[in-house]
Amino acid sequence: MSRIDQIGEVLISEEEIIKRAKELGEKITMDHENDDVILVGILRGAVMWMTELMKHIKLDLTIDFMVCSSYGSSTKTSGVVKIDKDLNSDIHGKSVIIVEDIVDSGVTLSYLKSYLAGRHPKSVEICSLLDKPSGRRADIEPDYYGFTVDDRFIVGYGLDYDQRFRQLPYISYLKQNDAGSRLPEEE
Ligand code: IMP
Ligand code: MG
Repeated sequence: MSRIDQIGEVLISEEEIIKRAKELGEKITMDHENDDVILVGILRGAVMWMTELMKHIKLDLTIDFMVCSSYGSSTKTSGVVKIDKDLNSDIHGKSVIIVEDIVDSGVTLSYLKSYLAGRHPKSVEICSLLDKPSGRRADIEPDYYGFTVDDRFIVGYGLDYDQRFRQLPYISYLKQNDAGSRLPEEE
């Protein structure tokens, strides 16, 4: 079975994602008219979403990236957040918008939010492409999100399974995983 046969049908098309990025970009522009905004992309999952989203934010903003991990190489969360690359920018007094691919358990973002809040920004918000409320373990909600997804293992538009499928220009899911978001062999 070739890897691409593991992928189900398109759940969210590229056109729908671009339309949503435009809507959220306009909303962020209005909400942050007078703020010094910095977009903080979480690598690698947020890369496509951040690229599309920032085209539609008409503010004098800056961007930076962090690398952190709460998952191992597959689909099971470890519950532990590790910062592999920190910001290069000073965020003191700035309006930080963390740009993420998906809020699942919320463990990563809840940790990151308080980690960045410790540097005294004006605010720390979250803009996630996807929200998967069924996976939630931490008490956290994205301030802005593109779409809600159900309890499946999502791939595409930056999201990976074992580092694969990030380049798909749409949102899909792993077919063998219809029963839930954790693959059986991972349990
Ligand atoms: P958390 O469980 O909310 O902490 O999510 C941590 C990270 O796990 C996300 O940023 C994603 O990179 C990854 N993740 C969670 N759910 C999925 C999924 O359905 N597909 C691919 N990656 C996921
Ligand atoms: Mg991620």
